[in-house]
Amino acid sequence: MAKYSIWIVDCGRSSFFSTEHLYGGFYKKGEPASMAMGLAIIKGENRNILIDSGVDTDPVGMQMLNSRGYYDCISPAKAVEMVGLKAGDITDIIITHAHWDHIGAIHCFPNAHFYIQKAEYLTWLEWLTLPPEFSILTRCITQEHFEQLVHLGKDHRLTLLDGPCDNLFPGVHIRTGSGHSIASQMAIIETEHQSYMAVGDAAYAPEGVIRTGDGRYLPTGMSVAAGTMCDMLFTMQAIDRFCEGDISRVLIVHDVETWNRYPSSLKGGHPLAEVCLATGEASRL
Ligand SMILES: [Fe+2]
Ligand SMILES: [Fe+2]
Repeated sequence: MAKYSIWIVDCGRSSFFSTEHLYGGFYKKGEPASMAMGLAIIKGENRNILIDSGVDTDPVGMQMLNSRGYYDCISPAKAVEMVGLKAGDITDIIITHAHWDHIGAIHCFPNAHFYIQKAEYLTWLEWLTLPPEFSILTRCITQEHFEQLVHLGKDHRLTLLDGPCDNLFPGVHIRTGSGHSIASQMAIIETEHQSYMAVGDAAYAPEGVIRTGDGRYLPTGMSVAAGTMCDMLFTMQAIDRFCEGDISRVLIVHDVETWNRYPSSLKGGHPLAEVCLATGEASRL
């Protein structure tokens, strides 16, 4: 059994978004919505894994953060220091999808190898060539950030995964889940205590994956999606079946309740959630 510890650092908050934007008007209509920019860190015996690189506070990243009202932002390179790691200690980064807030800080992790779905990479590469009238499709993709993926490939630091796979690393399994993006992927992490699923943007809130009182899934907004609503619902069903009603087994990095769901503390003003600790690992709280 692989021994993994999991933490989630809150790298920024925004109250800019409307519930209509986030949930397509299906959920909490009219209520203000807030969003977190969480970074999931997984520490194993010989690996330090991130789920997505997060957005960096470089000029392009800051421009995107500012335009969406994010505040209290820190770079993922600083965020990993909260759990005693340096950016250079990160060995592997599983990219759930290629949106700006999930790949922006690629350049901050010089020793990491990256994993993305082949269809996610190749289709965005094609869609970025579409004429301006298609720009709504690529509104969550930044050319500058995406080019980092291309450079990773040239440096042989990018693996294109073709569908789901078991044991990408011992006890870490890849599952695909389209809808929010073209070919998003999710990661199941088996720990000594529990198995968790990092779902990227397949859900912004628990209500996205656990059916509500009227028995429906509430998808993330189609205004930022590139896949189909049907695919999105099947992805939610897969997450629902995985967690069997226990939302604490689903790592939702944009959900501000994440830091209320697990033991948490403030580190330098930024919330740190300790999802689980491997035997012998010291608490970072
Ligand atoms: Fe996102
Ligand atoms: Fe996204």
